[in-house]
Amino acid sequence: MRVFILGGTGSIGSPIVRALIERGHEVWALARSEASASKLRAGGATVMAGDIAAPERWTAGLPLIDAVIHAACDFGNEMAAIDARLLDALLPALAAQPKRPRFLYTGGGWLFGATGDDVATEATPLRPVPAFAWMVPQFTRILGSRDVDGIVIHPAMVYTPDGGVFRRFARDAVECDAVRVVGSEQVRWPLVHGADLANLYVLALAHAPARSSYIGAALDGVAVGGIARAFARRFRTSHQEPVIISSDAIAAELGEWARGYALDQLLSGAKARRDLGWTPTYLDPESEIARLP
Ligand SMILES: NC(=O)c1ccc[n+]([C@@H]2O[C@H](COP(=O)([O-])OP(=O)(O)OC[C@H]3O[C@@H](n4cnc5c(N)ncnc54)[C@H](OP(=O)(O)O)[C@@H]3O)[C@@H](O)[C@H]2O)c1
Repeated sequence: MRVFILGGTGSIGSPIVRALIERGHEVWALARSEASASKLRAGGATVMAGDIAAPERWTAGLPLIDAVIHAACDFGNEMAAIDARLLDALLPALAAQPKRPRFLYTGGGWLFGATGDDVATEATPLRPVPAFAWMVPQFTRILGSRDVDGIVIHPAMVYTPDGGVFRRFARDAVECDAVRVVGSEQVRWPLVHGADLANLYVLALAHAPARSSYIGAALDGVAVGGIARAFARRFRTSHQEPVIISSDAIAAELGEWARGYALDQLLSGAKARRDLGWTPTYLDPESEIARLP
C-alpha cells in the first residue's frame, strides 16, 4: 500500500512509519521542518513539505494513495481549529482520488474520561477531557465521510524507548532528582508500547472495516505511582517517593490538555485483540524502565 502519514515523527507516528516500511509499504510523510524531513527520509519515507495548519498549500500535491494515517497534533491552543481546517482541505482532496482511501484517525483514551473501576470499551459513552473534546466531532466526521473509509484508533498512554508519556518521568528524575505524579499515586493509566500500537495501526490498515473504532490498550490500567518509583530506582534519585502535584500545576506548566494526566482510567484493548488478532508483546513496563539507557 502507499500510505500518507501526518505526524510521522511523533511518539505514535515514528513507530508506525518504521512498522509500515518493515512490512514493505510505501510511506509518504508530511514534514513541517527540515529536521523532521531528515528523520523521515532516514527512516525510508518520501517527504512532502507542509504544515497541518496550512493544508491548502499541500493537499493539491498529494500523490495517489491507498490510505492516510493522521497522528499529528501540536497540543497548542489552536489545535481544534487546526484539525478542523485540516479535514476541510484534506477530505475534498481525498474525494478526488480515483479509489476511496482508508483514513485512520487518531483519537485518544482521554476521550473516555475517568472510568473508576469500570473498564471502558469502544461502546462506552465518551466523556472527553475538555481540552480534547474537539476530537469527537472530528473523528465522527471521518467515520461518517463518504470520501474515505474511516477508522478510529484510540491509543492508551503511549511509551517508547525514547520516551512518549514516560519522557517527563525520566526528565524529572535527571533534572529534579525526584519524579512527579499528577493527582495521586493510585491514578491508573492504560498503557501501550509504541511498537505494539504501530502493529495495531498496520492491522487496522489491512483488516478493519470502514466506520470501526478500536482502543489501543495493551494494559488496562497501571498505577502511575509504581511507574514513578520504577523511574526513581532506575535513575537512583535521592527521593524515591513520588512527588504529588495538582492538575492545576501541570496545566500551568504544559497547557490545559495536560489535565488528562490526572485521569484514573481502565481501558480495554479486547476488541482489537479479538477482531484484528492484535497481540501486544510489551506487557511489563517496569522492566522496560529498568533497562533504559
Ligand atoms: N502519546 C500518547 O500517549 C497519546 C495517546 C492517545 C492519543 N494521542 C494523540 O495522538 C496524537 C499524536 O500524539 P503524539 O504523542 O504522537 O504527539 P507528538 O509526539 O508530539 O508528535 C506530534 C506529531 O505531529 C507533528 N506536528 C505537530 N504540529 C504539526 C504541524 N503544525 N504540521 C505538521 N506536523 C505537525 C509533529 O511533527 P514535528 O516533527 O514537526 O514536531 C509530530 O510528528 C495527538 O492527537 C494525541 O492527542 C497521543
